[in-house]
Amino acid sequence: MDFLEKIKEYRAYEERLKWEGTFADYLELVRKQPEIAQSAHSRLYSMVISAGVSEKNGHKHYHFFDDSIYGLDESIERLVEEYFHPAARRLDVKKRILLLMGPVSGGKSTLVTLLKRGLEQFSRTDEGALYAIKGCPMHEDPLHLIPDHLREAFFEETGIRIEGNLSPLNTMRLEKEYGGRIEDVPVERIFLSEDKRVGIGTFSPSDPKSQDIADLTGSIDFSTIAEYGSESDPRAYRFDGELNKANRGLMEFQEMLKCDEKFLWHLLSLTQEGNFKAGRFALISADELIVAHTNESEYRTFISNKKNEALHSRIIVMPVPYNLKVSEEEKIYSKMIRESDVSNVHIAPHALKTAAIFSILTRLKESKSRGIDLVKKMKLYDGESVEGFNSADIKELKHEHQDEGMSGIDPRYVINRISSAIIKKGVPSINALDILRSIKDGLDQHPSISKDDRERYMDFISVARHEYDEMAKREVQKAFVYSFEESAKTLMNNYLDNVEAYCNKNKLYDPITGDEIDPDEKLMRSIEEQIGISENAKKAFREEILIRISAYARKGKRFDYNSHERLREAIQKKLFADLKDVVKITTSSKTPDETQLKRINEVIARLIDEYGYNSTSANELLRYVGSLLNR
Ligand SMILES: Nc1ncnc2c1ncn2[C@@H]1O[C@H](COP(=O)(O)OP(=O)(O)O)[C@@H](O)[C@H]1O
Ligand SMILES: [Mg+2]
Repeated sequence: MDFLEKIKEYRAYEERLKWEGTFADYLELVRKQPEIAQSAHSRLYSMVISAGVSEKNGHKHYHFFDDSIYGLDESIERLVEEYFHPAARRLDVKKRILLLMGPVSGGKSTLVTLLKRGLEQFSRTDEGALYAIKGCPMHEDPLHLIPDHLREAFFEETGIRIEGNLSPLNTMRLEKEYGGRIEDVPVERIFLSEDKRVGIGTFSPSDPKSQDIADLTGSIDFSTIAEYGSESDPRAYRFDGELNKANRGLMEFQEMLKCDEKFLWHLLSLTQEGNFKAGRFALISADELIVAHTNESEYRTFISNKKNEALHSRIIVMPVPYNLKVSEEEKIYSKMIRESDVSNVHIAPHALKTAAIFSILTRLKESKSRGIDLVKKMKLYDGESVEGFNSADIKELKHEHQDEGMSGIDPRYVINRISSAIIKKGVPSINALDILRSIKDGLDQHPSISKDDRERYMDFISVARHEYDEMAKREVQKAFVYSFEESAKTLMNNYLDNVEAYCNKNKLYDPITGDEIDPDEKLMRSIEEQIGISENAKKAFREEILIRISAYARKGKRFDYNSHERLREAIQKKLFADLKDVVKITTSSKTPDETQLKRINEVIARLIDEYGYNSTSANELLRYVGSLLNR
């Protein structure tokens, strides 16, 4: 019921947005709110800006792309600053086709789709509103009705430059239906919509033999020629090509360079002169942004062909490489999984990160100049601190290989391997090792991986696995120590009692028998050894601790578990070392005793409650860490 209400509400909302009037009324609107007359390029730029911009380390971050595109900040910054912004200001780049060039599954289509959906939304806001001559199949800009000789005066009055000529169809309608009175021509607010073919279009190449230029520029409607008497009557023409329909908005040209050249030439005139040729008419003006995409090898082939020279200078190429940050790659996977049909499967913590480590490594290039290995480079890029390097080094490293990120493993491959791991395992819970195994198995079937690459990739799988091992151990250690905060405290107090007795040359009392006993040297050493305190240094260490305790006491403070960093570390490590046995026991065939079982269950509960595991993945983790410790 609620849902039906929402549909109704939305319909009412759309109803309220509608506007219709004469051209005279429209002029009033334009005077009040000149933005409604902005160009398609300018509207797109406003849309991106209106979602917010923030600045970090001298780089701009455009929030419009948040939640959909990850790790492409630099490409996006360049795209906005070198294309969207200057094009919005009618600078020359506007006259070029925007070509996104990057490796397969690197987010090009996603980026364009985001712009399209964004424009649809934006045209429904006050800021992004736009209007068209009513009944025009190309939603022509009403200002085109203003004849040339009045445009200068119009500019002086409103500051708005009018580009483009009234289309043949509307020229005819103006004469026939309105007796030339432009003020009477009806105008309506339009709402961009790809589904309804208003202001958003997509053109994708198909078989060049059968693909017709009409798909792009429309065609004669032969059934109406008899009615109108001539092929050159604009009423006998269907302005229903993608270029017609995308007028006022954006047209996506998928895989542009796979297309037959004759299609490209049409685009050239459109971007260069703002018009294109359709049928037997005078040129048709169009105001739209053309975004094309292609991969690098097609682009290279295209560039190397002399015949295409004229086209080169009219294309602006924006590289869209793969993301190079592990943490952003994880977000890409999470998003793709969320959108897939395996979204209900439990994915153990660190599993996606481990896969991301592998992917990023395949995309990075060795640095020749800066003695930094790939793993460190990967961490540095992801914002981790790496000894001996800082953010200035990142810049230099990026500069070293301009084409970094243009090759390597693509996100879709990883997602496919995750899906297949899920199916193979048959349990709705998978972990880092399942994924790595599946990635490895898939490499053999990957069509575009050379033998050399495969070997390198195998190494990267080992590296990713090693990184995972460290994460897994740390995780269990954390969960274990945390669960045993009480044990840690008891162990420390026990240690301190012994240290005190040792330093003061006293005896201790056995809590059960009450007998006097010597300080427990074995216990003290087992803790001190955890942080590398040698036999010779033990006395100094113990004395230092006693001094610290009395300093605390003098200030009225209590010396506790967190008061001495190194001691705390030693205690944690000791506890963790003890865990080794516990884990070993539970993983071996012998049944663990009651206390051991209790301990293990506490760790598992902690992993589930605090660290995002489920019982399958928590048990797998413990077993795995147990096996690592046994090595
Ligand atoms: N940087 C990225 N940010 C978000 N998603 C990405 C990114 N790179 C790839 N993807 C995801 O990978 C898949 C393939 O991307 P797509 O846009 O079709 O690539 P392309 O058009 O470049 O071949 C999509 O599901 C997309 O969401
Ligand atoms: Mg694509």
